[in-house]
Amino acid sequence: MAEETLTITDNRTGLRYEVRIRDGAIAATDLQKIVSDGPGSGLLSYDPAFLNTASCRSAITFIDGERSILRYRGYPVEELAERSTFLEVAYLLIHGELPDPTQHRVWVDAITHHTLLHENIKKLIDGFHHDAHPMGILVGTVGALSTFYPDAKDIFNVESRRLQILRLIAKMPTLAAFAARHAIGMPYAYPDNDLSYAGNFLNMMWKATELKYEPNPVLERALDVLLILHADHEQNLSTNVMRAVGSSHADPFSATAAAAAALYGPLHGGANEQVLRMLKEVGSVSRVPDYVKRVRAGEMRLMGFGHRIYKNYDPRAEIIKKVADDVLAVTGRSPLLDIALELERVALADDYFIKHRLYPNVDFYSGIIYSAIGFPVEMFPVLFAIGRAPGWLAQWQEGLLDPEQKIARPRQVYTGPAERHLPAVRQPAVAR
Ligand code: SDX
Repeated sequence: MAEETLTITDNRTGLRYEVRIRDGAIAATDLQKIVSDGPGSGLLSYDPAFLNTASCRSAITFIDGERSILRYRGYPVEELAERSTFLEVAYLLIHGELPDPTQHRVWVDAITHHTLLHENIKKLIDGFHHDAHPMGILVGTVGALSTFYPDAKDIFNVESRRLQILRLIAKMPTLAAFAARHAIGMPYAYPDNDLSYAGNFLNMMWKATELKYEPNPVLERALDVLLILHADHEQNLSTNVMRAVGSSHADPFSATAAAAAALYGPLHGGANEQVLRMLKEVGSVSRVPDYVKRVRAGEMRLMGFGHRIYKNYDPRAEIIKKVADDVLAVTGRSPLLDIALELERVALADDYFIKHRLYPNVDFYSGIIYSAIGFPVEMFPVLFAIGRAPGWLAQWQEGLLDPEQKIARPRQVYTGPAERHLPAVRQPAVAR
């Protein structure tokens, strides 16, 4: 059997090097032995944006972008979306197996009883401007939770990690709903422990003066499925940030706040909000061809299209399209869906998109469902963060316990000036 090695000839020196191949990768540090100018001149691998660099070994999520495969701990996401709940998937991502009935009951009870927030958090949220973006409030309040739970710093204590993971999964919806209520000047609606995870979120979003909010079961299930579809996605940007911040041994609340901040960007989790704004800008099915022409001309990107890994369709987008039909059957047809379907039809037949292998991603249809359920567009990235929290936490914990990991500190290729000197006689500038 052929050896699992690379033989590299350095043509600068004529020397040959054997580099081991392990699991389809070479260790970048093996390149350091390829020197040309004495110690310290070993080769680096240069990969801005990590287009072809594995930052870790992970057993959590598997993606095959060519074959549109997405599996959480080996289970196809299509099966989990159809035959599991978000809290079961959260347990699966974090523990590696689906919970048995006892584990499930304990897990759900624990999360249900951690949904309340310290009352001082309300004062923090009240301090935000009335039109503060809820994602900005979420980033701020998740970070603030680290001050309410200083025990979270005890990251190598398994019980402490378990408690913080429960707190974060449980409290994200409460923080999100309180941020949404703050924006519209509504009193905060407290968690209702009789409801499901998704049902309780709808309750905290929309309970008014009724004694007990009763979620629509179709919308409740649709939201639960959307949370499942967002739960993890291997080493996406926000997960990379979660792992990087975790590698400094910061507490999980601070790491989650950083991950949420990364998710906020319009090229990542903020794309779903931009898709809705784009669909409203297109305005009608008849204007789709002109809009696509402007995208081809490079005026803007078609938000919700394209992906770093999926070079065919994003399997999540296919499932979301089906969920949209169930939701719109309850809420009424959305003209935005018609525009989205026409955009997809025109784009997928357009050689620009074919050449660049651009397909709808998870964000293309999710916003239509969120909008139909009644969420304001600013809440869309917040919903993404709620769904992604178990994935972030599973990846954070895996990185923390990985003996091959240490504090993340990339190298650089220096392109600045060579050494130079100040004039021998020079006074520092004097401030006015
Ligand atoms: C998410 O990583 C993850 O897993 C992320 C995510 C998750 O679950 O965590 O899946 C969630 O973030 C989904 C992506 C949401 N973002 C968007 O929908 C924003 C629009 N899409 C893009 O900007 C873009 O497609 C990315 C950011 C998703 C991927 O970008 P890449 O892989 O870095 O590709 P690129 O920017 O280098 O683009 C390659 C080419 C460029 O053309 P050229 O300069 O080579 O001529 O494709 C073009 C781009 O201009 N292109 C697009 C486009 N996306 C890429 N052109 C028009 N519209 C687009 N949407």
